[in-house]
Amino acid sequence: MPIIMCSKPSPIIFAILFLALLCNGASTVAGCIEGERNALVDFKRGLLDHTGRLSSWTGSDCCNWQGVACSNRTGHVVRLDLRNPHPLSIYTDDQPYNEWSMGGELRPSLLGLKKLRYLDLSMNNFGGRPIPEFIGSIRNLRYLDLSQAGLGGRVPRQIGNLSSLQYLDLNNCLFYMSSGRVPEFSIDDPLWISGLSSLQHLDMGCVKFGDTSSLVEYLNMLPHIVEVRLSRCEIQSIPLSLPHVNFTRLSTLDLSGNRIDSPTIPSWLFNVSSLVHLDLSDNSFRGSIPAEIGKLSSLEVLRLSNNSLQGVIPKEVGNICKLHTLGLSYMNISRSLPELGDVFSGCIKTRLEILELSSTGLTSYLPDWLGELTSLKTFYLDNNSLVGSLPESFGGLTSLQVLFLSYNKLNGTVPAEILGGLVELVYLDLSKNLLEGIISEAHLANLTKLSLLDLSSNRRLAVKFSPNWVPPFRLQLLDVSSCSLGKKFPSWIRNQANISWLLMANAGIEDAMPDWFWVSFVQVTWLNISKNAIYGSLPTNLSRNVRLLDLADNLFNGTIDPAIGESMPNLRILLLSGNKLYGDVPSSLCQLQIVEVIDLARNLFSGELPNCWKHNLTVLDLSSNNLSGGIPDTIGSLSSLKALHLSNNILSGEIPSSLQGCTGLAILDLSQNKFTGKVPTWIGESCPSLKILRLRSNMFAGRIPQNLSRLFGLHIVDLSHNNLSGTIPKSFGRFAAMKVKRANPEQVLQGSTSWYVESMEVVMKGKVLEYGDSNGILSLVTSLDLSGNNLYGTIPRELGSLRGLMSLNLSGNHLNCEIPKEVGSMQSLVSLDLSRNELSGAIPSTMAYLTFLSYLDLSSNNLSGRIPPGSQLQTFNESTYTGNPGLCGFPVKQICENDDNGTGTRNNNTSEEDGAGSQVWLSYLGTVLGGFVVGFWVLWGTLILKSNWKDAYLSYIDRQYDRFYVIAAITFNRFKNSYV
Ligand SMILES: *[C@@H]1O[C@H](CO)[C@@H](O)[C@H](O)[C@H]1NC(C)=O
Ligand SMILES: *[C@@H]1O[C@H](CO)[C@@H](O)[C@H](O)[C@H]1NC(C)=O
Ligand SMILES: *[C@@H]1O[C@H](CO)[C@@H](O)[C@H](O)[C@H]1NC(C)=O
Repeated sequence: MPIIMCSKPSPIIFAILFLALLCNGASTVAGCIEGERNALVDFKRGLLDHTGRLSSWTGSDCCNWQGVACSNRTGHVVRLDLRNPHPLSIYTDDQPYNEWSMGGELRPSLLGLKKLRYLDLSMNNFGGRPIPEFIGSIRNLRYLDLSQAGLGGRVPRQIGNLSSLQYLDLNNCLFYMSSGRVPEFSIDDPLWISGLSSLQHLDMGCVKFGDTSSLVEYLNMLPHIVEVRLSRCEIQSIPLSLPHVNFTRLSTLDLSGNRIDSPTIPSWLFNVSSLVHLDLSDNSFRGSIPAEIGKLSSLEVLRLSNNSLQGVIPKEVGNICKLHTLGLSYMNISRSLPELGDVFSGCIKTRLEILELSSTGLTSYLPDWLGELTSLKTFYLDNNSLVGSLPESFGGLTSLQVLFLSYNKLNGTVPAEILGGLVELVYLDLSKNLLEGIISEAHLANLTKLSLLDLSSNRRLAVKFSPNWVPPFRLQLLDVSSCSLGKKFPSWIRNQANISWLLMANAGIEDAMPDWFWVSFVQVTWLNISKNAIYGSLPTNLSRNVRLLDLADNLFNGTIDPAIGESMPNLRILLLSGNKLYGDVPSSLCQLQIVEVIDLARNLFSGELPNCWKHNLTVLDLSSNNLSGGIPDTIGSLSSLKALHLSNNILSGEIPSSLQGCTGLAILDLSQNKFTGKVPTWIGESCPSLKILRLRSNMFAGRIPQNLSRLFGLHIVDLSHNNLSGTIPKSFGRFAAMKVKRANPEQVLQGSTSWYVESMEVVMKGKVLEYGDSNGILSLVTSLDLSGNNLYGTIPRELGSLRGLMSLNLSGNHLNCEIPKEVGSMQSLVSLDLSRNELSGAIPSTMAYLTFLSYLDLSSNNLSGRIPPGSQLQTFNESTYTGNPGLCGFPVKQICENDDNGTGTRNNNTSEEDGAGSQVWLSYLGTVLGGFVVGFWVLWGTLILKSNWKDAYLSYIDRQYDRFYVIAAITFNRFKNSYV
């Protein structure tokens, strides 16, 4: 009972008060109970407090200490708030958070605060320490926030004893996202949650639940529960039915990003009529959206994106009149967009602010009724099959801030009257369409808020502004790659000093790099102006923030700034290939602490390689320069190196044994140099990840190491044009990756960045073909090339086991005896070259089974006898067989003895069938392989990488922080809307 003092308090009341406090087991010192003061002092001793946040914790009146609050009535400490004032955020710099974080131990002295009701330790960093069990003994606790506090381990079930607790926040998601620090919270059995009988708000985002089979039932036992946020908790299922739905006050239910695999959206949810916010996105709910959803008439937010839902959107959704956010992306609607008119003519028509329909299989054109969604602020229609142009009615969407129409087939021009009227636009993405015409000042002059402009990959779209135009907006991202910018370097971007992402690759620019560029763009973080004809020298003073510098395939000349290591400390990806750069490879590159990719290929660099490599480089490409000297030892210390390209230089010496340290190497290309010595046998032991080995055109001598075939993933081996001698190891029949036909493309450089796409030359069919890694095509190519050496002996019959091998080249050796008939088992062979050997005997008739073979060279041997008739083998030119005087029969001119008149010509029927077979295969190859021959420097990688990038960007752009890599690794959909 409060003591009400109407008039001057009498001394008696004071006495009673004083006694009451004494009875609490402590004496008060100027408003603070001494026992509690001592408890706080001891608690403080356990904490690490670098910035002195608790410096006010001196003196006797603990009620005035920072973060401490006492009851005005009893003098007891009732509140302890030690939340970091600089919270962890994916959007802002970590540094203040790190500085202001408290750590250390949580001492049980806290139990001395008997009346504590409110405890907030969030956003600190307790280094993975577990939540102490004694927290469950702070009986009066009503509010407990331990979110993002770097606490980890099992959540003690003693928390379940806090029967007065109303608010519990253990959300750990930011810790996951911000830096991959993962002190995980886990809960084996969530039964204890049902003991929190006063609980109203529960947030356990990113807490790993072990057993979730009864979780919903436990929550159903909490009579006061209002808010349940269990995002990314590894929940596997929720019940399809609940006998009695208790949730009478539940307003927020967030189960997004779990692993819920459910044949339908459970119908009991539709009886929770108090629901305002329902988020089931990023799970595996199947079936269609039931019409019953219309019963949730209080619903304002409904997110169902990224499940396995399909079918129509029920009309009832359109009658949930309060709904302002509707997320249905990745649902398989597969209808024409105009057909959705009946849903969006309901009462949500004028309320809806966020509508997400990405990747829903929508077809046809943009209907006029879209223009009636007049409150729409965010509209995702990307990744569909929409055609046509923006309808006139679009001009009515005057609230629109975010418009994503990328990855459709929109064609025609973009009318300036329509686009120009969307004056609230912040993000506009029209990329990857078939738009044409010109984007000019008239389109953008009123878009003062524009921050993201992506028009890329509309090949017939010209982006042309007058050179003196000063845009009214301040872009942070501009992507006009693969648009037509005209030959002049666009000067209108000059005042866009806030740009962080500037992407103008393949835009037809043929001009000098303007001087102002490197001065204006001090903020630029991701820069890609590759594949133009831009000339000039490299910058020395580019933004320190720059992470991606892609100037590849231009006409830059000059040298690399010898201080690049200091001037661009944040560089992650450096792509300068295909220019006219010369001079040394500067040793300061070694100082780039976080660099992942360095590509200087196809320039004029000379001198020796620096010997100072360290850090986390994954790709080093120095091919096609004039580099000399040996491979420096320190390259061997790059344990994360996955690809080393040194081909086509004048490097010499032996392969250093230090290279054994590159245990993660997948690609080693040393071809076309002057390397000597043996092919080291340790390659077969120390490089277990090796997939591609190219040592072509060097001076390697000695025998071929047998154990290469132990490398499980090796699928391209090129040892050609060396001085190798001895026989072909029989063990070469055991290359696991060549034994089966490879059907599932996967990237050779797994997990590499989308900004760098590996590509590889393979000599096949007598030609140099280039295969890209972006779609995993490179991984499908299998090739064994031992040509141009001094190998002798027979072709091991064991090679016949390589049924997945596509190209075999053994030409230009001294191989003798017959071609083993097992060659006919190499069913995948597309290209076979055995020319210029000493092979004798007849061509084995089994070779007629090689129906996919489209290139064959057996010339210059001693083969004899009849070319097996009636087969594929006769479809090749005569040149395939020349230099074998003993061969007879079509297509060679020599007629076989014993031939009747006219035989020796092919049997038309069979060969046509075979021809058809190989036609199918070739067309397969054409689509799967041939099409990617040109796939060099593919800008965006796969679709999904693109999405990651975009979402990461969106998070970034709004709050000025870039966590590209981390966020990309996390499910990204969560963040799509956090900026609105
Ligand atoms: C105590 O009273 C002050 C001033 O009236 C007020 O600001 C504060 O919130 C009260 N503290 C508590 C714990 O109720
Ligand atoms: C409903 O909530 C009450 C507590 O308010 C609980 O006793 C009861 O078991 C709950 N019913 C179900 C089916 O869980
Ligand atoms: C756009 O594409 C559609 C369907 O392919 C076609 O009918 C229409 O003529 C095209 N419009 C323009 C302006 O090219």
